[in-house]
Amino acid sequence: MNKVEQGKALAPVAVGTAAALYLSYKIFQSLLYKNNEYIKEIPVPSSAYPYVGHMFSLGDMPAEKVSQWHKELGPIIKFRMGVQTWVSIDSPELAHKVMVTNGSKTSHRNENEFMFHMYSFGGKGIVNSHPDAAWKKARAAVAAAIAPSEIELYMTSIQNQAKKLVDTLMDTSDKTKAGIFPFKDLQLYVMNTVTLIAFGRTFPSRDDRTFIEISETVDEGFKLSGVDYDMANYLPVFTIYDYFKGVRKILCQYLIEKRNPVYGSLIKEAHYTDGPNLVKYLDNHGYGLSEEETMVIFSDLTGAGTDTNSVYLCWTIAIMCHHPEVQKKIAAEIDDFIERNDRLPLFSERLQLPFCISAMKECMRFKPVTAFGIPHLAIDDIEVDGYIIPKGATIIPNMMSMHKNSEFYPDRPDEFVPERFMNALETSSAASKGKVENRDHFNFGWGRRICPAIHMAEVETFIGFIELMSRCFIEPGEDGMPNINKADNGGIAILPLPYKVKFTNRKN
Ligand code: HEM
Repeated sequence: MNKVEQGKALAPVAVGTAAALYLSYKIFQSLLYKNNEYIKEIPVPSSAYPYVGHMFSLGDMPAEKVSQWHKELGPIIKFRMGVQTWVSIDSPELAHKVMVTNGSKTSHRNENEFMFHMYSFGGKGIVNSHPDAAWKKARAAVAAAIAPSEIELYMTSIQNQAKKLVDTLMDTSDKTKAGIFPFKDLQLYVMNTVTLIAFGRTFPSRDDRTFIEISETVDEGFKLSGVDYDMANYLPVFTIYDYFKGVRKILCQYLIEKRNPVYGSLIKEAHYTDGPNLVKYLDNHGYGLSEEETMVIFSDLTGAGTDTNSVYLCWTIAIMCHHPEVQKKIAAEIDDFIERNDRLPLFSERLQLPFCISAMKECMRFKPVTAFGIPHLAIDDIEVDGYIIPKGATIIPNMMSMHKNSEFYPDRPDEFVPERFMNALETSSAASKGKVENRDHFNFGWGRRICPAIHMAEVETFIGFIELMSRCFIEPGEDGMPNINKADNGGIAILPLPYKVKFTNRKN
């Protein structure tokens, strides 16, 4: 018998052995996961290529592509990002089971080269660290500094910043016929609260040198945290390519020449500024943080606290421009409050403005702030609803299709319906602590990694929005309506495309 004939003779044996092995594997799996009658395979989109997997099928706006895959394949899908396995979920209930019920196994972060190893000095700080003792301590300190009772102390400052924001928007809008893109002004408004709490400092205008430095540092950090600058993490062959392209040099340069000096001097100066701030608090309460830990905590806080609230408000303004009838209803509700009280409502009086609250929540559902939240990592196999999420998988909620899920949002999920939350007016902070079926939206994440600043975010956005809508009518600029059907991929955030609107005085 020659080798070919020998091979043919052995083929049935090989097939039989493989079938037996497969059957034993399935029996072993069903014994291991005996709560379920059978284990379902997590569906995989078909557009994978050897080695790179689905990486280059994601296109310019990965959240849209992943939403399309969910439409075709269901609420949980698995795809390959080079050597990494990613599992995306777009059912709120399933996401809850994965990230809350199984939170002890799904609250770690990915050890990406840039964000984990370089930016966070090997997983220090809050956002990119694993849920270890140091993370717990840092998170608890930050949570204490932005607790509702602390935010109350900053309320007058937030109100003053909101007044300044709206003065600036109206003044600059008055001076140009074309209209203005408000993003940098919104960034200044929200950053001033973060920097006041963190460093005891605010900045007078968007032209302030230090504000520009911090804002550029935040924006560049978001850009560099994208997949483009972390190829070697997904495709190890890129280690060589990265070396030639100098990616590592760009990342090191950013940290050494920008991030470290900018936050280093803010932290140093915070020790000598008047009044309380988080830098002094951590020092005086014996936290014993190293220089690196301090650096990461403050850059985490400034980054996470700036380009989230400002992106939300920027989308909200664009959506309002599309809906003059909604603006009129909002204005009537605010005017009614002012007539009765002779002043603007406080955050604690928010329930007296049900339509405003509902419309604000709907803006966040309709245009989520992030594409995938901040990815979680599975540190063990987990079984949920008969699916096995494998150990080592990166878990992402797909915010775009999750917020259009027709089972969770049965009333016209693809449309902007400002009345949607009229019966769900409690704060998102309170809703996030309750049952999943009573949550309003999922922009703030899940479980033990949930955004620790939900209350602060709700206060800042409420005060800014109410101040704006009490004085302005938002109209399209010369280029027409903002395009809200498309978006810019801002790495972690989904940004509206630049647009121009006019803020006209509605009392004229
Ligand atoms: C509209 C506003 C905001 C949105 C939509 C938002 C969203 C998120 C999301 C999705 C996460 C990840 C949750 C998860 O892993 O499941 C997160 C974490 C975080 N956010 Fe926010 N956030 C907002 C405002 C803020 C503000 C104002 C601050 C600080 C001043 C902040 C600080 C943080 C921090 C430190 C974390 C990391 C928590 C951890 O990993 O343990 N966020 N946020």
